[in-house]
Amino acid sequence: MPRQKEVILGVTGSIAAYKACEIINGLRKRHINVTVVMTKEAQEFITPLALQALSANKVICDLFTPAEHASPAHISLAEKADLVLIAPATANVVAKLACGIADDALTCLALSTRAPVVIACAMNEKMFKHKITSENIARLKKLGYRFVGPKVGHLVCGGRGMGHLADVAEIVKEAIKNLK
Ligand SMILES: Cc1cc2nc3c(=O)[nH]c(=O)nc-3n(C[C@H](O)[C@H](O)[C@H](O)COP(=O)(O)O)c2cc1C
Repeated sequence: MPRQKEVILGVTGSIAAYKACEIINGLRKRHINVTVVMTKEAQEFITPLALQALSANKVICDLFTPAEHASPAHISLAEKADLVLIAPATANVVAKLACGIADDALTCLALSTRAPVVIACAMNEKMFKHKITSENIARLKKLGYRFVGPKVGHLVCGGRGMGHLADVAEIVKEAIKNLK
């Protein structure tokens, strides 16, 4: 029997963090094992408990909790991943990835994995259209990172604009397409 595919879902501090629940469901329906790694800020928007219950796997929230095995959790996950999907991805995490900053479990994992990385941004239109964000995205694309969305939609800051998280179905489709 073929090995079950492993997706590491990075969840960051966006108002769209609740959509991670639907993304987990969409991947699990396709028999993909999902392990969630959350930033500290993501936990302001959704609880690790909810994502643990939906993924049926322990959620990694910080770098310094002793791992069950010798290797730290973010390193063993980085090695076993068939894909790292960051959804929703903040402007902050995109900037950190573009600079190689590794100051939490998610960014350490992203830097140490050799699996494909798919990023689904969600942010305010002005943040998305800022030259710095555009340059960060262009740099990551050049390095082989794949992006899905964002799209025009309702924004939490009011009105409609570019920066709304792509549809869950589209994110799940892109993730499956890019599995190692
Ligand atoms: C209510 C609220 C909603 C936010 N939504 C977003 C968002 O959708 N995208 C984004 O880039 N930042 C958003 N932020 C700002 C991030 O939470 C902030 O930049 C944070 O430091 C991101 O941390 P992380 O990238 O480590 O998760 C929001 C902040 C607040 C207070």
